[in-house]
Amino acid sequence: MSNVFELGFGASDHEVALDSIPVRGRIPEWLNGTLLRNGPGSFTVGQQRYRHWFDGLAMLHKFSFQGGRVSYANKFLETQVYKAARETGQISYSEFATDPCRSLFGRAMAVFSPKISDNAKVSLAKIADQFVALAETPIQVHFDPHTLRSVGVSQYEPNPVGQMTTVHPQFDFAEDSVYNLVTRFHRVSHYRIYRMRGAGVPQLAASMPVSQPAYMHSFGMSRNYVILTEFPLVVNPLHLLLWLRPFIENFRWKPRRGTPFYVLNRHTGELVARFESDPFFAFHHVNAFEQGDELVVDIDAYPDNGILQAYYLQRLQDADAELPFGQLRRYRLPLKARKGTRVSYELLSDECLELPRFDYERLNMDGSYRYVYGVSLNKAQRNGFYNQIVKIDIQGRVAQRWYAEGCYPGEPVFVGAPGRTAEDEGVALSVVLDAANGRSFLLVLDAQSFTEIGRAELPHAVLFGYHGDYFNGV
Ligand SMILES: [Fe+2]
Repeated sequence: MSNVFELGFGASDHEVALDSIPVRGRIPEWLNGTLLRNGPGSFTVGQQRYRHWFDGLAMLHKFSFQGGRVSYANKFLETQVYKAARETGQISYSEFATDPCRSLFGRAMAVFSPKISDNAKVSLAKIADQFVALAETPIQVHFDPHTLRSVGVSQYEPNPVGQMTTVHPQFDFAEDSVYNLVTRFHRVSHYRIYRMRGAGVPQLAASMPVSQPAYMHSFGMSRNYVILTEFPLVVNPLHLLLWLRPFIENFRWKPRRGTPFYVLNRHTGELVARFESDPFFAFHHVNAFEQGDELVVDIDAYPDNGILQAYYLQRLQDADAELPFGQLRRYRLPLKARKGTRVSYELLSDECLELPRFDYERLNMDGSYRYVYGVSLNKAQRNGFYNQIVKIDIQGRVAQRWYAEGCYPGEPVFVGAPGRTAEDEGVALSVVLDAANGRSFLLVLDAQSFTEIGRAELPHAVLFGYHGDYFNGV
């Protein structure tokens, strides 16, 4: 994986704005909008290197489509973290798994001082007509989708000190609202659910005390409930306060806790149910919906937290290392059962799945949804990094794959065709690293046949990124 590792986990010094990039094949003429992506733009600062896939300096990418043509631009997110890196040539802020080795006093101040990383590199969203780069740290960075320049910052609470949030806010489009989880570390810590309606300020929708908060990268949401899946990767808040280790390394895997599900009514804030399950870990909830007296939670799960270890750059550098498989599980929570009822799961596919996507805009919280797209590992070629895209039919229990030797695709974003009648009528867009060429391209797959219909070629390689979204008409 050495060549791939250098290309996917190295450093990018290419910031470009290109009116037109070469297209091979065909880009649908109905595609009239912009794919925005977030992710690491560099894993090095001066002579220093970040340690983990979830570190690195944020970079935005923009692919705009009009009449079958594609333009492209990329730019480091303008943050205090980036500015400090440029000015000092050193890593100055703590990230997910990297600590800049400050004095003990400096470490103690890291979480509970205002010097919180604003390196919002993980995801992005359009919230109340604002484009926002999202981080798990509480400072969110607003940007202009045309210039990719930063235009301001926001946070859920007036004082963002000692908080963690998720980069996967959940939208209720019918209600014109968006929800997110904020974990507040304190003597008595809390999980707090915030709701934003329209362009309004965040309002507290629910709150729950917790003694040892878990690392939760996402949460589930149905029409009436928010689901907190409390993986047993937990932290003593004092350890975060003392900041003896990089952020995630303060968390401990405690499988004897199992993985409880907490179900909160998102309209009243009431904790309505708690379920127990065997221990597991996940980054991504996929979808959740109510069906009769059951709450169905689909989640991209791992048996333990080994995936977090597997994403350390030192591990990824090993060409023979295999990534653990994420698998799509369905948990059914019987809402009328007594508190503490044990639940198990049904495996919806045996394909490896990560960075899962579906037609969220239409089918979020809807039990009729059928197709899930994501990056995957080819079963015959499991070592290295994600090397195929998979489309799982959760009703037919079959899968389609896109694989090309030497190619490493990123998160596939489904874009529905206008006026579509079938759920999968549209395209899947993925930024693919072509290791042999040393460059990346934007792949356009027909989402139904799952075959390539076109690609737009970039003049450089794009580091392995995380999340993005397509915005029609932008
Ligand atoms: Fe994520």
